[in-house]
Amino acid sequence: MIILGIETSCDETAVCLIETNDKSVKIIGNQLYSQIALHTQYGGVFPMMAKREHAKNLVPLLQKCLEESKFFKLKVENQKLKVLTEEKIEMVKQILSRENDLFDDLMKLAEKIEKPQIDAIAVTNGPGLEPALWVGVCFAKALSKLWDIPVFPTNHMEGHILVSELKPKNENAEKTTEYTINQTDYPAIALLISGGHTQLVLVENSLEYKIIGSTRDDAIGEAYDKVARILGLPYPGGPQISKLAEKERQEFPNKIPPFPLPRPMIHSHNFDFSFSGIKTAVLYTTQKIEKITDSVKQEIAKEFEDAVVEVIIKKTSEAVEKYNAKEIIIGGGVSANKKIRKDFEELANNIGIKLSVPEISASTDNAFMIALAGYVNILSGKKPKTDFKASGNLSL
Ligand code: KG4
Ligand code: ZN
Repeated sequence: MIILGIETSCDETAVCLIETNDKSVKIIGNQLYSQIALHTQYGGVFPMMAKREHAKNLVPLLQKCLEESKFFKLKVENQKLKVLTEEKIEMVKQILSRENDLFDDLMKLAEKIEKPQIDAIAVTNGPGLEPALWVGVCFAKALSKLWDIPVFPTNHMEGHILVSELKPKNENAEKTTEYTINQTDYPAIALLISGGHTQLVLVENSLEYKIIGSTRDDAIGEAYDKVARILGLPYPGGPQISKLAEKERQEFPNKIPPFPLPRPMIHSHNFDFSFSGIKTAVLYTTQKIEKITDSVKQEIAKEFEDAVVEVIIKKTSEAVEKYNAKEIIIGGGVSANKKIRKDFEELANNIGIKLSVPEISASTDNAFMIALAGYVNILSGKKPKTDFKASGNLSL
């Protein structure tokens, strides 16, 4: 099957084409435009701004993705308007009635190229920033009408989970494009850590999820981003904090942290999290320090990272024990973090459990994981939909 994935839930506009065959998945086109440079100027993501950027970038990215995949075939001159009946154009226009420029861009592309041989479209319909999600959803519906391709609304968090179960076919290749979908050992515990989520999920069987714990306030990625902002570091703060923390660990492996921070809810005997207090603790700490030098930033970054990682490790190991899990899955943008990968590897080795983490390049938001999640759902018998909505707080 050829599946097109579309992702617009936050600040990455992404489209990806995969070719699947049973447990094999091959990327044949993958395009991502990150809006980070834009949002950095404002210190965070503004939904309406993200939405406008998605609308501007979707068609150019789709065209590039098709070109990359060799599905880009120009029509011969006298065929130009053939598949585009007035009725069809009218329906597409209605679907994109709030996105005039996107409609114009899409029509220009549709007039010039042949219908690509895509079997299904998977689009993120939540969770995420609702205005941003809507652009992707409407775009998917418009493509579906235009080219008669079924659409599968897809859960972003499920994408983060499933992409962790991929194994590159050739581990030594510089850039891998071919993967095998690994068999998960159930029950598994999935730890989802991103800019919008911190969740522990019991995965009892394929596509069967039970959320056993969530954050009560900020997500872990959000805490990284906010602490970074307090320290005057650019958005997104996760990689910045992580870099400083690593430097501190290397330079001063035995230093006692001069600014100790709390380990929120570490002894709460449940699987919930809270990361807003630690951010406030960082704020108070910095207010008491006369000059926030680079070395102070480094010390705080390390202590913050140590604190949050200790909490997620402890909660995950308790969940593994309670549910007798056979596998730990980590997913979401924060799983790109070096220390988190290292500490979870240690945990998995110590308790003798399988650990699945995404490739670094597939940790943060991308459309590959959405195409993959669409495929796994199709394999399980899910039916396409026409009348679905974008839903900002869609749950697993
Ligand atoms: O999954 P994702 O790309 O978007 C959401 O669905 O939210 O996650 C983005 C989050 C941001 O908060 C970013 O700071 C964080 O992931 N992040 C990291 C690292 N790379 C990205 N946090 C810690 N360490 C990293 N290396
Ligand atoms: Zn995400």
